[in-house]
Formats: sequence, C-alpha cells, structure tokens
Amino acid sequence: MSTDFKDHWESTYKRKSVSGLGWYEKNPAPSLKLLQQCKLSRDDSIVDIGTGASTFIDSLVEAGFKNITAVDISKTAIKKLKDRLGREKASNIKWIIEDITKPEIIFNSGEFFLWHDRAILHFLTDSNDSSTYLSVLKKLLKKNGFAIISTFSLKGAPKCSGLNVRRYDQTSLAAFLGNEFELLDHFDFLYTMPNGDTRPYIYTLFQRR
Ligand SMILES: C[S@@+](CC[C@H](N)C(=O)[O-])C[C@H]1O[C@@H](n2cnc3c(N)ncnc32)[C@H](O)[C@@H]1O
Repeated sequence: MSTDFKDHWESTYKRKSVSGLGWYEKNPAPSLKLLQQCKLSRDDSIVDIGTGASTFIDSLVEAGFKNITAVDISKTAIKKLKDRLGREKASNIKWIIEDITKPEIIFNSGEFFLWHDRAILHFLTDSNDSSTYLSVLKKLLKKNGFAIISTFSLKGAPKCSGLNVRRYDQTSLAAFLGNEFELLDHFDFLYTMPNGDTRPYIYTLFQRR
C-alpha cells in the first residue's frame, strides 16, 4: 500500500471529528454479537486491525478484556482513541501504528485468540496487499482462535472514504481465508452513517481449525 493511502487516512482523521466519520458507531453491536459467541476469557489476546478510533475498543475495555492490541496506519486516529479512553485505560492497551500490508512491529506482539477487522480488508484491493493481510492473520491467529471480519457486502457501495473497495459475501470471504478457517456465523447489517445514508455490510465469524 502506498504512502498516498497513509496520507489519506491521516488527513481524514485530522479533518473530521470521530463521531462524524462515515463508519462511526456509537455502539459496535454487530461486532459485540459475534464476540459473545467466541466465549473468550478476559485474558485472551485480541487484536483489532484498522482500529481507527473505534468504540469497539471502549467496549472491550468496559467488558474487562485485559490483552488488547490496536493496530492502525494512522497515528492521528490512534491518538484520538487514546485521548477518548484516557491515560489509565489507554496504558493497558498495546498500540501499533503500522500499515498491515507492510507488517513488522505486529510480529513482536505474540499470537492472538481473536482477530477483529471492521472495514479494513475491503480497502486492500491489490491482491499483493490482501495476501499479505492473510499471511499476517495466519501467522498470528492461534489454532482454534476466531476471526471477526466485516466488510462492505456485495450490495454495498463501490467506495468508502473516497477509496475503492472490494466487496464480499460470506462465500467469497470463506474462499479468501481458505480451508484452515470454518465459517461459524454471518449476517448482513445495514449501517446508518452519521449523515443518515446507509451502507450494507457483511459480518462474519470464522474459527481456525
Ligand atoms: C473505515 S475505517 C474503520 C475503522 C474502525 N475499524 C471502525 O470500525 O471504526 C478503516 C480504518 O483502517 C485503517 N487502515 C486503512 N488501511 C490500513 C492499512 N493498510 N493498515 C492499517 N490500517 C489501515 C484506517 O486508518 C482506518 O482507521
């Protein structure tokens, strides 16, 4: 992924308030629904890829999860999320500012029991980028670990944040992940943006065999 993408995300998070972003969720209910099914212990390691300034992290902290890693290409996004959480809560999270298509630091984080991605995979339209994403996922997700992956669905818009996206359904996501992953659950979700427009997403839960 080129530096243009990094600049894009930096300027997006600098220009806009978090609650005005076209993917802001006051309550990340669809992700939490799938998280519940994983029946994780509060010590299990969780990584949120492309975390942005997501309220999913606040929910994990509120629920008592103790081993959380948040990864994003944008340092501005991470700063906004840290500021919202406050110093004490933020200090208990591992923060990684990195492009997932150029992974380095993330390999020092140990393995994860849950990989959560809402709306980053769909930006990896270049097959080299998506295959790097998959190789990181395979390297870092434990056996029997879970992956919650959410993207624009086949009915979704062709662009998000002004960038082209690749849309998926549960079948194409399962094909992308391959035989090592079992699809446990999936559902369509119609997300309402802060401006009132809607965006159809697909949510999937996979378990590594
Ligand atoms: C549509 S936003 C979703 C943010 C968050 N997951 C949420 O649900 O609110 C996509 C996020 O992915 C991040 N991102 C995009 N490309 C990335 C990459 N190659 N590596 C890491 N993060 C990336 C962006 O900075 C942005 O925060």
